[in-house]
Amino acid sequence: GFFVNLDATALLLFIVVFILTADYIKNRRLTGFPPGPPALPIVGNIFTLDHKRTHESMTEVQYGDVYSMRMGQRWVVVLNGFEAVTQALVTQGDSFSDRPSIPLYDDIFHGLGVILSNGHMWKQQRRFALSTLKYFGFGKKSLEPMILEEFTYVAKEISKPFNPHLIVNNTVANIICLLVFGHRFEYGDEQFKKMMKLFEQSIQIQLYNAFPQLMRCLPGPHQKFKRINEELKDFVRTEVKDHKQKWDPSDLRDFIDYYLNEIQMVTEKSFKGQDDSTFDEECLIMSVLDLFGAGSETTSTTLRWAFLFMVKYPEIQERVQAEIDSVIGQSRPPSVDDRADLPYTDAVIHEIQRMGNIVPLNLPHVTNRDVHLRGYTIPKGVTIIPNLTSVLFDKREWKTPFTFNPGHFLNEEGKFVKPAAFIPFSAGKRLCLGENLARMELFLFFTSFMQHFTFSMPPGVKPVLDYRFGITLSPVHYEICAKPRHE
Ligand code: HEM
Repeated sequence: GFFVNLDATALLLFIVVFILTADYIKNRRLTGFPPGPPALPIVGNIFTLDHKRTHESMTEVQYGDVYSMRMGQRWVVVLNGFEAVTQALVTQGDSFSDRPSIPLYDDIFHGLGVILSNGHMWKQQRRFALSTLKYFGFGKKSLEPMILEEFTYVAKEISKPFNPHLIVNNTVANIICLLVFGHRFEYGDEQFKKMMKLFEQSIQIQLYNAFPQLMRCLPGPHQKFKRINEELKDFVRTEVKDHKQKWDPSDLRDFIDYYLNEIQMVTEKSFKGQDDSTFDEECLIMSVLDLFGAGSETTSTTLRWAFLFMVKYPEIQERVQAEIDSVIGQSRPPSVDDRADLPYTDAVIHEIQRMGNIVPLNLPHVTNRDVHLRGYTIPKGVTIIPNLTSVLFDKREWKTPFTFNPGHFLNEEGKFVKPAAFIPFSAGKRLCLGENLARMELFLFFTSFMQHFTFSMPPGVKPVLDYRFGITLSPVHYEICAKPRHE
């Protein structure tokens, strides 16, 4: 019995030593690779990070502007500060513009659409989305009047005190609905309410990404998440079907109509054997979900930060209102053309975006070749986190990085200036595709709210600038009062 036990123990010991050695050899930092914290075998640095404030723990490191961590079996390089981030994304943009594979999302989106695609697919879909957005957002068919009209609906909904979360989400989602579906929804519409609820679902993806083969077979929240996304696809599919029935090439009403037109042209081209197109209905559905996923919660979260900052700094709110009163008055709605005459308001919106820091760790990138960056060698296939928190709060770039200070965006004469380190939309080839739309929405919604309402906390409540960390950084739910400025 003793010998059998010894053999079993020895075998176990041998296996453990073998696994640890293999893990060490496979995963050690090669010469020239960026430094970083020591990693545990197998799991790496997964437990080194504070999951409630990952963006802050990634920013407060002592390894310099380029450092590495191992998340399970995957190496991740974090870029910190304006210089390192823009050197990678802009100066060396060709090497850093791809997305890594994210198993859970790959299983749902299959690499289609804009946000998660690469190569030819990404180029075609991004170019198409950009030009369509330009046409419907700012061209002959501008979204400006629709945004102003949407404000009149949300203004009617406000009773005090209220939780702005749902209301503002609906408002902003409707702008994307107008863009892609060509119509808005009543806030009480059952279908709309259901869609908005589905979009609210989020999930921890670390475990699934670390062990995709295993997780695919196991039950758990990821299976529910997949089902929810299938429901969202069905929702869009119904809209597409509807658009196909009413489709008229001489009157393209919205994003879906334009896309159907593109598919039509592809069919004609492929007869001539020139088919390198990525346009089809599945891809259309993913692109539409991309626009919702990237374009709705982001803008809505920024507005919810805006209300909180105005309540926290009532003297800033008053100054914004005074500027709006003197330039626009009360008898007409704001227009994007007013921006140049509202430097203080513009500065406040930018400072809200800087301090709000709503995409704290950016979206992940990946090296698509071996690269040299700031003295380090990073092989192809390493996940890159161009940490936006570290840029928007970079001590070398901002006078008072941790204080709300519209002065960051004003020169001595009170004119608006934009420091280069203001990159909440990221930079380079993957730069947010909706930046112009988001900026127009933020400006029109924010000035409209300030023109018509004064925000304050309910009696006896202090504003809390606490957040929930996820892909976006959103304020914890709060209630707020909005007092009409003019009855
Ligand atoms: C990507 C920020 C609004 C569509 C991104 C990225 C950031 C960002 C940081 C990642 C860029 C990178 O990987 O380097 C924001 C912020 C917004 C906003 C702060 C609002 C305040 C919007 C809107 C839309 C949109 C309104 C669409 C209508 C997209 C898309 C991508 C993207 C499609 C993926 C681009 C690509 O992979 O090529 N955004 N965004 N975003 N955004 Fe936005």
